[in-house]
Amino acid sequence: MTIIITGAAGFIGNHVARLFVNKYPDHKIIALDKLTYAGNLENLADLEGKPNYRFVRMDICDYDSVLGLMRSECVDGVIHLAAESHVDRSIKDPLAFATTNVLGTLSLLQAARTAWGERPEGSEGRRFYHISTDEVYGALAMDRPDGGDGPGGGPWGSRLFTEQSPYRPHSPYSAAKASSDHFVRAFHDTYGLPTVVSNCSNNYGPYQFPEKLIPLFINNICLRRPLPVYGQGLNVRDWLYVEDHARAIDLIFHSGRVGDTYNIGGFNEWRNIDLVKTLIATTDRLLGRPEGADLDLITYVADRAGHDMRYAIDSSKLSSELGWKPSLQFEEGIERTVRWYLEHRDWMERITSGDYMRYYEDMYGNR
Ligand code: NAD
Ligand code: TYD
Repeated sequence: MTIIITGAAGFIGNHVARLFVNKYPDHKIIALDKLTYAGNLENLADLEGKPNYRFVRMDICDYDSVLGLMRSECVDGVIHLAAESHVDRSIKDPLAFATTNVLGTLSLLQAARTAWGERPEGSEGRRFYHISTDEVYGALAMDRPDGGDGPGGGPWGSRLFTEQSPYRPHSPYSAAKASSDHFVRAFHDTYGLPTVVSNCSNNYGPYQFPEKLIPLFINNICLRRPLPVYGQGLNVRDWLYVEDHARAIDLIFHSGRVGDTYNIGGFNEWRNIDLVKTLIATTDRLLGRPEGADLDLITYVADRAGHDMRYAIDSSKLSSELGWKPSLQFEEGIERTVRWYLEHRDWMERITSGDYMRYYEDMYGNR
């Protein structure tokens, strides 16, 4: 198979590309990325030179180029992760999110439909896999405000998002992702494009851009900078180690039912403030500082506009139908993650200084 992975130079994309390149030597993997501020070619450096791997710099909104690539490479599969992904940025610049997440996805869908429609065997054996988020479902109630083990649901609330939950996006980011999900399903229902969609909870792990909570806070703890906790820090997120997400993507791409949707989550809900305290304790311990020495860095700041209270995913369909479950306990995942950022201070510094942007030029010429 020849597979395009869009957004491969981003956080989740590089883990998916690494898994596919190493696990499937007979698949040809094309890592496609526009290299926006969030794309970092250094994240893919260990794959350079592998015979079944190639990087292509391309904007998914550039329909003619995407179609040209799909035709010339006889692409059989698309794993679509490219997106604008940060909620705070979407509040400042919603149009950029509509352009990439909605129109970019539409451009890819149309290119796949056209290229596959031209082949004698049509869409047979092909797959267009769209990676989405649990944020499309909106926010869940915190109806167990003290935490607890009531029957069903999660520790902080009695309901979880299932594949049947209605779409109720609140941020421009989640609204754009919701719209792209609808277009993917419309291409399946209208044109018979062999699509599959998954909606995943918050990911964490190595190579995450340090605008997101976990890498931003680890870096700030190292540098003893304030940790800006939005509102009262009581919002709940369901955290999944990124390599577990990549494994789920592999499984769904190869064995998921065409036209179907799978939720992916860690059954691992944390209030932001509790997570931040765990990050401080772990980072301090690994740096040899007295544990909790940096608790005073916690700084409560104005809440995010439209801040969703709680996300929590029911991934039992994926477990029962395809046998997936998270492999890592959260404590182990956080320890591994903090260690990685501490051992890759140079990676972090090249991002915060802007130097990572030069990596592409060194490899391929002007950016
Ligand atoms: P990211 O921001 O780290 O990476 C996105 C990548 O897409 C970057 O490399 C960027 O350069 C690329 N890109 C952006 N616009 C592009 C365009 N027009 N053409 C080509 N490439 C473009 O994001 P991420 O956290 O890795 O998320 C990847 C996908 O997974 C997104 O679709 C996101 O909605 C989804 N998702 C993320 C999470 C999470 O917790 N991070 C959870 C669930 C779903
Ligand atoms: P984030 O990593 O941006 O992911 P998402 O908004 O997609 O869930 O944020 C995770 C949670 O942390 C979210 O509730 C917002 C909160 N947060 C802060 O409190 N401070 C910060 O500086 C950031 C980036 C996030």
